[in-house]
Amino acid sequence: MAGTKTLTIIKPDAVRKENIGPILEKINGNGFHIAALKLIHLNRGQAERFYAVHRDKFFFEGLVNFMTSGQVVVAILEKENAVADYRRLMGTTDPAKAEEGTLRKLFAESMERNAVHGSDSDENAETECDFFFARSERFSNFEG
Ligand code: CMP
Repeated sequence: MAGTKTLTIIKPDAVRKENIGPILEKINGNGFHIAALKLIHLNRGQAERFYAVHRDKFFFEGLVNFMTSGQVVVAILEKENAVADYRRLMGTTDPAKAEEGTLRKLFAESMERNAVHGSDSDENAETECDFFFARSERFSNFEG
């Protein structure tokens, strides 16, 4: 059975443009419950660890610089089939190719400044939620 949670990050470009509210409204409007949320400023070590799977990619340095350039919102979103449904709501990584109505079509600037992150599998969703939130910080509709 597909999992019920995913981790999102509202990235520095979207925070800077005062798009936290509009993005959260879309998230709620599409049936996601917010189980945990905080506004933080990632340090270099955190960004490097969070994106460690991309360590060898040409865009890694730029990605870490960007993700530490300002505040981000991190949140745990809950819904049946959360990972796939949120990826559909985000749209493709490249906003130029994103479908109408998706978060990246509406709010992203470029491949790097793409407004939002979402977990890409249930397994990574678990790891990413644990990266930012203790169990005691979560208010789940699905867990006791
Ligand atoms: P995200 O979903 O946060 O996961 C990895 C991030 O790397 C991705 O969103 C993009 O912001 C970034 N990324 C992926 N591919 C490229 C690329 N070709 N150029 C710049 N950034 C990229």
